Amino acid sequence: MAPAHDPDPQAGAYKLEPQARAPDLPGTVVVRRDSDQLFAVLAGDLLSQAHACARRFGDFHIALSGGSTPMPFYMRLLTDPAYRDLPWQQAHLWIVDERCVPFSDERSNFKNISEFIVDHTPIPKSHVHPMQAMLPDADVRYEHELLEALSKRPQGHDRLDFVLLGLGTDGHTASLFPHSPALGAAERLVVFNRGPTVTPPDRITITARVINASRFVAVLVTGKSKREAVGRIQARTEPVEALPILAVHPRSGELRWYLDEDACPDVE
Ligand code: 6PG
Repeated sequence: MAPAHDPDPQAGAYKLEPQARAPDLPGTVVVRRDSDQLFAVLAGDLLSQAHACARRFGDFHIALSGGSTPMPFYMRLLTDPAYRDLPWQQAHLWIVDERCVPFSDERSNFKNISEFIVDHTPIPKSHVHPMQAMLPDADVRYEHELLEALSKRPQGHDRLDFVLLGLGTDGHTASLFPHSPALGAAERLVVFNRGPTVTPPDRITITARVINASRFVAVLVTGKSKREAVGRIQARTEPVEALPILAVHPRSGELRWYLDEDACPDVE
C-alpha cells in the first residue's frame, strides 16, 4: 500500500485567485471577488489617506454617501480591529447628499450614517456636519459651513480629503440625477435638486465642483444591478446629462473605483 501523503500546508499559499478583468473606467479601478474583499481595499485606502491628512493638517475631511451599498462598509470600519486607529477625533464628517426628510425619517442619509459613525466613534460632535435638508436655505447654509471649515486649511488644501460616492442604476451619483437641474449648477457647491428624474423625495447634494476639487474620490459599486451602468461608463458615448457619474473627474485629486465582480460587465 502506498504511504499516505501528508498534504503540504503551504500548497497554494501563493496561488492568485483569478479575477475579473477590470473595466476601463476613468481613474484607477480595483476589482475584487466580493464586497468583503473590496471593503478591505477601500478601508485600507481610507486609512492611509486619513492618517496622511491628520499628520499633515491636523484634521481630515471626509464626505460619505448614503444608499444601501456603503452601510456594510461603515459597519466593517467599526467592527474590524484593523481599522481601529482611524483618526476619528481629527475627522470632519460631511454628507454627500441628503433626502429632504427629517432626521428621524428612515430615508435620511444622516440618520443612517450617524447610527454607524457618529454613535460609535470618538468623532467630536462639532465635527459632524449634517445637511439641514428641511430648511429652505439648507444649500446656502451648507456651502457656508463647508467654506468656513475648509478656510482653516492652508491655501490649495482647502478641499475635501476623501469623498465616498455610489452609483445608481440610472448613472446618478450623489444626488446628481440625469437631466436634473443640479448638473447645471457649475458655480455652486451645494444645491437642492428636484424634477422628474430625481428619485423622490427631493434632494440636496454637493455638486460636481466640490467632488472634483477633492483630494481622493472613491466610487463604490457592487452587485449585478449596477453592471449595465458600469458598461455605459466604459463605453463613454453618452453626455454627462444622461450619465451624471461622468461629471466626476477630480482636477488634481485621485479617482478610484471599487467594484465587485458582479458589477463588472464582462463577468457572466
Ligand atoms: C443616496 C446616494 C446615491 C447612492 C446611489 C446608489 O443617498 O442614495 O448618495 O447617490 O449612492 O443611489 O445607491 P445604492 O447604494 O442604494 O445602490
